[in-house]
Amino acid sequence: MEWNPDGIDRELRWIAMAFGGVSVPFVPTRDETLELVFKALDLKEGDILYDLGCGNGKIVIEAARRYPIKKAVCIEARRELIEEARERAAKNGVLDKIEFIHGDMFRAKISDATAIYMYLLTSVNEALKPKLSRELRPGTRVVTLDFQIPGWKPVKVYGERGGWQKTVYLYIIGKSDK
Ligand SMILES: C[S@@+](CC[C@H](N)C(=O)[O-])C[C@H]1O[C@@H](n2cnc3c(N)ncnc32)[C@H](O)[C@@H]1O
Repeated sequence: MEWNPDGIDRELRWIAMAFGGVSVPFVPTRDETLELVFKALDLKEGDILYDLGCGNGKIVIEAARRYPIKKAVCIEARRELIEEARERAAKNGVLDKIEFIHGDMFRAKISDATAIYMYLLTSVNEALKPKLSRELRPGTRVVTLDFQIPGWKPVKVYGERGGWQKTVYLYIIGKSDK
């Protein structure tokens, strides 16, 4: 079957709204995709990483375990997932490096981020664009999995084009959003 992000966007949005009241279903980033994601994020000492729609915290926990970042912020609308994320962070010994926010990413303050991760949908990326441009500082990396930010130019594309969890897009505020 052909890889069609627009069709997937419509289907998944509908299913997620029907069953969870949120516009994106919970699908964790797979282990096999992590290296690609971290290559694009390029985390260094002092970085502040946000995962918008962080699910069970897989990315922020792995980031806090692997890299000398200042902190990671996990924002998630579903209560059971943010609770699971907190428990998993405690088990992995990185609770003190992660801030957990149960709520709507559209309402959260994200201006101190130096790197953002979003595994959402094209339509949700589109809706987030004004917030990202308004709040993030020039030079902030915005990394998306599978789904692009419409109208923005990625500075680099990692992995293969097309296919489930195969493509990672790197955008830089000040360059990609102009
Ligand atoms: C595809 S999952 C990705 C999970 C995680 N980022 C990962 O890569 O493993 C998307 C997540 O976004 C969350 N989400 C959707 N809309 C949201 C919103 N407005 N605010 C916060 N979280 C949201 C969903 O509940 C879901 O857990």
